[in-house]
Amino acid sequence: MIFRQLFDQTSGTYTYILASRPGGEALIVDPVLEKVDRYLTLLRELDLRLVKAVDTHLHADHVTGLGALRDRTRCITVMGEQTKADVVSMRLADGDRLTVEGLALDVLYTPGHTDDSYCFVLPDRVLTGDTLLIRGTGRTDFQNGDPRQQYESIFGRLLRLPDRTLVYPGHDYKGDTVSTIGEERAHNPRLQVKSIEEYVELMNNLKLANPKMMDVAVPANMKIGLQQEAVARQGWAVGGAEALALAGRPDIVFVDLREQSERERHGVIPGSLHVPYPELAGQIGEGGTLFALARGEGRTLLFYCAYGERSAMAVQAAQDSALAGSRHLEGGISAWRSAGGPVAR
Ligand code: FE2
Repeated sequence: MIFRQLFDQTSGTYTYILASRPGGEALIVDPVLEKVDRYLTLLRELDLRLVKAVDTHLHADHVTGLGALRDRTRCITVMGEQTKADVVSMRLADGDRLTVEGLALDVLYTPGHTDDSYCFVLPDRVLTGDTLLIRGTGRTDFQNGDPRQQYESIFGRLLRLPDRTLVYPGHDYKGDTVSTIGEERAHNPRLQVKSIEEYVELMNNLKLANPKMMDVAVPANMKIGLQQEAVARQGWAVGGAEALALAGRPDIVFVDLREQSERERHGVIPGSLHVPYPELAGQIGEGGTLFALARGEGRTLLFYCAYGERSAMAVQAAQDSALAGSRHLEGGISAWRSAGGPVAR
């Protein structure tokens, strides 16, 4: 596995790049906007293709690099289903798996620092975001933080991982880079409490100043959705009702870009083809199935996904592959459902 820990001095943020092999797909966790050029250079040097950019939660101390990375690499943006961010390409829930080629991270919902905090678990390590820090824990006094929930997330979930599990946090301010679950259980001063009440008392009396960047970072991080107007202006977007009118026509092919887990949870548009977004490039190029359907059979591709981001990027990529007739469903499957479209399980 390729595993890189990168540091942003200004905010004390750790960013992680993970991939299974050189030449393969990569994901990045908690990227910082100002460091995006650095990440892209490193990804190029390591011969990695960025497929997913993930935030463990909505950050208050730095502006996320998710939107910039999506705009520059057409990767998928990912956050938890509780996030207040306007649009991310894909939302995760507890028990999901966060996957790229050759890697699958178990998704743990660990509220407490914020109500949209997640941790990501591999067999030998865990990315803990701001839920569990080295010799500390994430503050719980804003963004719907809750020390009770955090206690449950730490004691009920994270500390149940094997003691030797490596802990890679979202921040550090003292120069530590990695710890283990066993080490934190034994030596993290916040975890030496006898009860949940004692933990709540401790967390409610930290009296911390707000992060310097908070008033800038939080609003910026809530507005990261792809600017879809340009796609709509080109006439490449259809709304839910329009899509419904096109359904069943033999010259239209609905293409579902979501992952299998999303299809199982939210259902599919009946009769649609499944092409997960990361596989799109191979399918719309010459020799690909979608290329053959569009150019060979003269059918119109109608891409859809969860919220319309992946499909907006797909319709753009299709134009670039000279599949000029392609369209996408703006607003994703929820727009379809709102228009009364049927959903198959
Ligand atoms: Fe945070």
